[in-house]
Amino acid sequence: MIKLEHISKSFKTKNNSVCALDDISLEIHDGEIFGIIGKSGVGKSTLLKILSLSIMYDTGTYTLMDIDVKTLTHKDKVKLLQNTSFIYQNFSLLYNLNVLDNVSLPLKLRGVDKLTRHQKAREMLAFVGLDSKALDYPITLSGGEAQRISIARALITDPKLLFLDEPTSALDEETAYDILKLIRKLHETFKPTIVFVSHQIQSIKYLCDRVMMLGDNKIKHIGKIDKLSTLSTTYDAIWGDRL
Ligand SMILES: Nc1ncnc2c1ncn2[C@@H]1O[C@H](COP(=O)(O)OP(=O)(O)OP(=O)(O)O)[C@@H](O)[C@H]1O
Ligand SMILES: [Mg+2]
Repeated sequence: MIKLEHISKSFKTKNNSVCALDDISLEIHDGEIFGIIGKSGVGKSTLLKILSLSIMYDTGTYTLMDIDVKTLTHKDKVKLLQNTSFIYQNFSLLYNLNVLDNVSLPLKLRGVDKLTRHQKAREMLAFVGLDSKALDYPITLSGGEAQRISIARALITDPKLLFLDEPTSALDEETAYDILKLIRKLHETFKPTIVFVSHQIQSIKYLCDRVMMLGDNKIKHIGKIDKLSTLSTTYDAIWGDRL
């Protein structure tokens, strides 16, 4: 599905150039959950932006769904991106729209009629367990609820490829675990390929089949990991049986 060969990317600043990624080669297989981990500034988000065609790389080759992305016309690119969705740390909901309109927005942008898109949005809201919030506005939601809504919005287009950039880092540990469980459930149900960026080792171990560790803007390590079946995050886990 995704193949990167010797990808490098620098950003030009006023006086110099910052290397964000240096010689990245990797493959991400259909249907897997691929993790990217590393310290702040190592290039995780830059890599995700390249993978999701939001920015271009300087050198190397990127093959997405068997197509060299440098050969894509604008029209091809738009078509390819219809199969992808993005979930961010800060939820990125539109505050002037209610939950139902937020979730159905990607279908509106694709020209789907109101009745159909609202029907599908309600299905997605039921999937994330928040159908009762359909007519509420994002300002009234907790962080965990807002992230569930943004997941419902990401799923409404049946994406084959999902990019998640630190989706739980704005949440407390227990709520983050609920979101990780939801991501597992959506993966089991819809089977998209997922690229999951996180600096939280436990989250990576809970979700991912394979992981790449970035350091100094290069690949430090890439390989399989043993998935954790559960995470212990409840506050009483600190005291165990004594509570
Ligand atoms: N648009 C830009 N212009 C200039 N430099 C940039 C730009 N985007 C990223 N960089 C630089 O590229 C490097 C990698 O940034 P990136 O955002 O990919 O890191 P990250 O691993 O996602 O960090 P974090 O964990 O803090 O989100 C950093 O040195 C950053 O300052
Ligand atoms: Mg980042």
